[in-house]
Amino acid sequence: MGITYKSYEDGCRIIFKLDTPNTTYMFQTVDSDGFLLHIYYGRRLRLTDIDDLSRIYQHPFLPSENERERASFMDCAPFEYPGHGLGDYRDDAFAVLNENGHSVTSFSYSNHRIYKGKPRLEGMPATFGTEEECETVEIIGTDIVNGLEITLFYTVFNDVDAIAKSVNIRNTGKFENIKLTKVLSSCVEFYGDEYDTIFLHGSWARERIIDRKPLGYGRHCVSSLRGESSHQEHPFIGLVSRNADEDSGDVYGFNFVYSGNFIAQAEKSQFDIVRVLMGINPVDFCWNLRKGKEFQAPEVICVYSAEGIGQMSRTFHDLYRKHLIRSKYKDLERPILINNWEATYFNFDTEKLISIAEQASKLGIEMLVMDDGWFGHRNDDSSSLGDWTVNEDKIKGGLKYLVEEINKRGMKFGIWMEPEMISPDSDLYRAHPDWAIQIPDRKAVMSRAQYVLDLSRRDVIDYTFGQISKILKSANIEYLKWDMNRQLTDVGSFLLGKEEQGEVFHRYCLGVYELQERLITEFPDILLENCSGGGARFDPGMLYYSPQIWTSDDQDPIERIKIQQGTALIYPLSSMGAHVCDCPNHSTGRTTPFETRGYVALAGTFGYELDVTAISEKNKKMIPAQVSMYHRYNSIVRDGDYYRVASFLENHEWDCWETVTKDKSEALITIVNVMARVNYKARLVKLKGLDPLKNYSLRYFDMNTGEEEENELILPGDALMYAGINLTGNYFGDYKARLLYIKAI
Ligand code: GLA
Repeated sequence: MGITYKSYEDGCRIIFKLDTPNTTYMFQTVDSDGFLLHIYYGRRLRLTDIDDLSRIYQHPFLPSENERERASFMDCAPFEYPGHGLGDYRDDAFAVLNENGHSVTSFSYSNHRIYKGKPRLEGMPATFGTEEECETVEIIGTDIVNGLEITLFYTVFNDVDAIAKSVNIRNTGKFENIKLTKVLSSCVEFYGDEYDTIFLHGSWARERIIDRKPLGYGRHCVSSLRGESSHQEHPFIGLVSRNADEDSGDVYGFNFVYSGNFIAQAEKSQFDIVRVLMGINPVDFCWNLRKGKEFQAPEVICVYSAEGIGQMSRTFHDLYRKHLIRSKYKDLERPILINNWEATYFNFDTEKLISIAEQASKLGIEMLVMDDGWFGHRNDDSSSLGDWTVNEDKIKGGLKYLVEEINKRGMKFGIWMEPEMISPDSDLYRAHPDWAIQIPDRKAVMSRAQYVLDLSRRDVIDYTFGQISKILKSANIEYLKWDMNRQLTDVGSFLLGKEEQGEVFHRYCLGVYELQERLITEFPDILLENCSGGGARFDPGMLYYSPQIWTSDDQDPIERIKIQQGTALIYPLSSMGAHVCDCPNHSTGRTTPFETRGYVALAGTFGYELDVTAISEKNKKMIPAQVSMYHRYNSIVRDGDYYRVASFLENHEWDCWETVTKDKSEALITIVNVMARVNYKARLVKLKGLDPLKNYSLRYFDMNTGEEEENELILPGDALMYAGINLTGNYFGDYKARLLYIKAI
């Protein structure tokens, strides 16, 4: 495990080998120009001596001795950090505009440093690990013509098959200022196989739907220019061998630890080399790097799995649970919350909230979350963002009184805020119109009747933090839902000069990070849930600050099985905000059994979003059973290994997933029979991740009693996995679901 390297006598060639428990990543320097070329990424190689390394060195793409033909080498070499404009016509990783007006860049190896542990990325989210848990190599390169020093960071983890990469660029002083027009965080090159790409696409209420397709020639890119990672496309790219499936085949996953504009791109070029790039979107990006200053690009996580897509997901889950999410709640059962948004929308007051809490508490629900509409004069979405004062016409008696009343009923209290926003109809906007992100003389584009605060400004950051802090200190508030309901347009800052306008997008993102860092530092016990019009900012950047993120505004369990499958492709189930909703569902109009809504929400953080005073007695009676289900099984969902057994997205009929404890002693299997199939007798389901040598007892959970059913079946792990089990059940009617609990005996 760890990082090794071998220098050759010619002084030009150094081979680096980066090992995680089951993967190896290799690159080398070649030629007196100090090119840094990729060699290999895949299964762990047990190379130990120089001969092995030399054989690997028989690389198909090396520069010839002959300077005459540099250009053709440049256009096929697998660069670790490709520059711009020197004959490599594929997409590049970095570009500049220097004081002479030139954009050409190059990277030449000059030095390296290897050490235990991993440095923090100042002001930005990043994975972390102790000196025992990880090791880092910094490859330092130069672009002498531009006076730049470029450092590539690679950290390997000893307990997870993941590599974290990032890039730092420093202006060493040849130019007073150099404009960075593109600084990506990772480039990895692949050759010798046919690949498919996996992207996660979506829309509002339809986030992160898996989209797999064969990779053809040319550039295949997903991106965001919305100032957030977005509903529409996701900072993730999967590159998988054509025959890879859930359980076998080569699978590479790249995920960007950033919450703003990004690109994720695979480009297959003339020699079938595939270049995978990831980083900040260069469009509308222009960073002034003054003499002596550094620019730090965010981090990319690279994961390789030789055992299919499922193993890639489990690696990401482990990495994020151990090395990214910091909240003390990440390993704890979260309080079961009830949120009033879909119950009341803007139409609520103290009395209504207390009546919900009164009922909810009797049923075993543990926290009331007051959503949008409690501040300023906000009775719909047209006003008051920025005016974070309690509307005492609605919250009669004030916030402190309300929270005390909720606490008296044995429930915790949580609150909704949208700190990054400003309504044109707000005292804040009337006082500080220049605090909104806008362009002078251009009519600002509104979205949901609101503008975005200019968080590239120190005064706005400080003011906003003061507002959040004041509210959180005013009562016993134990949870904050931090929302962000519009994307950025008219991107301009009134404070920054004309040279700096190309920095606004990134500075905005850093402003959000600073606010959240201050929040969790000053209020370490607050349970923070990020949200953006549902799941538009469900990304690893936000997970660094909050252990959970609202997955989607669509809470229909049938839509959710697709959304949650796509989300769980990368993110641990413990981070997915999921609630039991009302029916007919507010997004789809679909009516589904209350049991099914419970089973699907169990695969996330679990909570409720309905008017518990208005639902049927039958459903209300089921809530204590669901509460008991959550308490029984949450630790398996939260800390266990996730396996996808069947996908409704693919088979259009049924869905099945499984979570297994790390010691393989317990497992939960959820089966959703979305579309009933008439006269269908046997569905053999092959379970996954069990111990073949153990015997397991199998019992269904009974949503009427809140207990497991009496009937017990005992079967060996190998039979359950290799022969499968008949889970036909009684599936008369659509949308039926069951939960099977199995335990080693
Ligand atoms: C967003 C959130 C919802 C709710 C509303 C309130 O859409 O995703 O859950 O909080 O805002 O305006």
